Amino acid sequence: MTYRITVAMQKGGVGKSTTTINLAGALNDRGHDVLVVDADPQGGATLKMGLREEYRTGDHALFDVLSDMGTLSYDDLNELIVSTGEFDMVPSHLKNFNLEKYLYSEAGGHEALRKAVDRLDADYDIILIDSPPNLGPLSDGSLIASENVLFPSHPNTIARDSLEILFDEIETIEDKFDQYDIKTMGAVLNEVPSQGNVAREVEDWFSENFGEDYVFKIPDRDVVEHAIEYRTTIYQYDPEEAGYPWDADAKEDIMASYDQIADYVEGFL
Ligand SMILES: Nc1ncnc2c1ncn2[C@@H]1O[C@H](COP(=O)(O)OP(=O)(O)OP(=O)(O)O)[C@@H](O)[C@H]1O
Ligand SMILES: [Mg+2]
Repeated sequence: MTYRITVAMQKGGVGKSTTTINLAGALNDRGHDVLVVDADPQGGATLKMGLREEYRTGDHALFDVLSDMGTLSYDDLNELIVSTGEFDMVPSHLKNFNLEKYLYSEAGGHEALRKAVDRLDADYDIILIDSPPNLGPLSDGSLIASENVLFPSHPNTIARDSLEILFDEIETIEDKFDQYDIKTMGAVLNEVPSQGNVAREVEDWFSENFGEDYVFKIPDRDVVEHAIEYRTTIYQYDPEEAGYPWDADAKEDIMASYDQIADYVEGFL
């Protein structure tokens, strides 16, 4: 079966979308068939990969597939898939801002995404789901659809408070739907300052909660933004062509960081 991972954190701007697309880029680079599902109505991953038209005016949206009000059924998730040039994607869509309220009220709303993903025709090695920066049926639905979760976070002293809220949410989901067992895969400390300084308290808390080997660190580097400017992942980004030739070393650094996550994930494929 296809391995599935949700990248989740109910805090905005911590690097969920950046982690999702660059991990997808890393796994694509190794020859795996990757699908990214953008479950965030704000469409961070979709826009970062340049699918602006799909987001604003695409014919179909997850809304149409997942909500009772939509015109498509779970079987039709296939029709939403587009290629980014590196991996396949179910892009987000402006319409999806209406999705949460329907998923709240519909019977089975929380399991809708899982049912749709179960029915995909194409055979992917891995499906990565980028989830929204709030707790609700879309983020719950993403966790239920994947049963594995990676937690991006900024390496600061209040990060644990956000994580503890999410751990509680996962427990609540597991109590309500006892057929699902959501596995905490690890944390991604994102935008680690160039000196590599992470407060000891933060380092310790993450190691204790995830295990030292499952706390991945991504440095804070302009090259991450530059790749997005060119609508590629770091793996396909060409510093020379982009006019940022001095990015070459930082690109290697950032790829080495994502490669560590990819090595770990590859162990499950
Ligand atoms: N390692 C990094 N170095 C420098 N900038 C980064 C890095 N990772 C992410 N960023 C930048 O930080 C910003 C937030 O990242 P991102 O959009 O991935 O967060 P998010 O958690 O998905 O946000 P949201 O909650 O709004 O969906 C983006 O502008 C991104 O380019
Ligand atoms: Mg995002």
